[in-house]
Amino acid sequence: MIKKIAILTSGGDAPGMNPAVKAIVNASIKKGLEPYVVYEGYKGLTEGNFKKVSKKDVKFIGDKGGTFIYSARFPEFKEEKIRKIAVSKMKKEGIDALIAIGGDGSYMGASKLTEMGIKTIGLPGTIDNDISSTDFTIGFHTALSTITKAVDQIRDTSESHNRANIVEVMGKYCGDLALNAAIAVGAEVLSTSERQLPEEEIVSQTKKAREEGNRSIIIMVTENIYDVKKLAQKIQSETNIETKATTIGHPQRGGVPSAEDRILASRMGAFAVEKLIEGQTNVAVNLVNNKLSTQNILEVVKMERPSRQELLNEYDSLN
Ligand code: ADP
Ligand code: F6P
Repeated sequence: MIKKIAILTSGGDAPGMNPAVKAIVNASIKKGLEPYVVYEGYKGLTEGNFKKVSKKDVKFIGDKGGTFIYSARFPEFKEEKIRKIAVSKMKKEGIDALIAIGGDGSYMGASKLTEMGIKTIGLPGTIDNDISSTDFTIGFHTALSTITKAVDQIRDTSESHNRANIVEVMGKYCGDLALNAAIAVGAEVLSTSERQLPEEEIVSQTKKAREEGNRSIIIMVTENIYDVKKLAQKIQSETNIETKATTIGHPQRGGVPSAEDRILASRMGAFAVEKLIEGQTNVAVNLVNNKLSTQNILEVVKMERPSRQELLNEYDSLN
């Protein structure tokens, strides 16, 4: 029987991590468990940096951006000897279960702890939406709104100045933010991780967009594909259209979590506690067709990314 559970947030932070922690704490207490928060992800777990929390501690965190228990990238956790230290710190405190909120790297860390006798559940917390088993990750919708608002503003000035604007968004190697934002803002050109356009193709689509009468031209791209400053120079020199490049960057990771992310985080958090109590371990929580489920965490990590062809076709039909 589990008595004490630890909660951590790890990897890139995401809006919605706080309401997820709040939900886990509240659901645990309701079920008679003692929740502990771990500061700074697996780094804090290894340092024994955790604290028992009450409902009062989390009452006002649900609408806050970032993660109040902090996050960290701690590659040392890949080493077994480091994980052994973390497990001994947990055992000393009588903690036998962990809910890790993060991306696929954080899932790997959780899975490795399962092998060492800790019961683990992963919650998808990342703006990238790059966990293939779930329709949405916690943080994705807030980041999407942030991008949409930023591009609306870029559109205003782009239209005033008769320009093309490249907008580079996060996603690591997942194009979901770019694709969905492109639909939201009506981007004229789109290149994502799943459908990367050669630079020449971007130049010719930009030219075509201008010939079709567009003053402002938004070129939405996923990070890690181009050097966007160089690409802007190339477009400008080959089309004579003044072109600017904006990398939105870390504003995408912050801000007040949207209602959608708060609801997703709250539902997933409470569900994870329920599943832990039922005895599930080494699983991740998914939302598929608005229904919560669990799936083996390693299976989740190994899943191939969907091609997003249907949504790409829908974008094409709008453009
Ligand atoms: P994300 O969880 O968003 O994918 P990272 O890939 O940075 O972010 O992973 C977060 C943390 O998870 C890492 O800093 C490390 O502490 C832990 N981690 C990642 N991969 C592994 C692994 N193979 N084994 C153990 N821990 C890992
Ligand atoms: O995984 C979330 C994410 O924001 C990615 O979109 C991005 O590539 C990366 O993290 C940036 O990480 P950092 O803040 O450590 O530079």
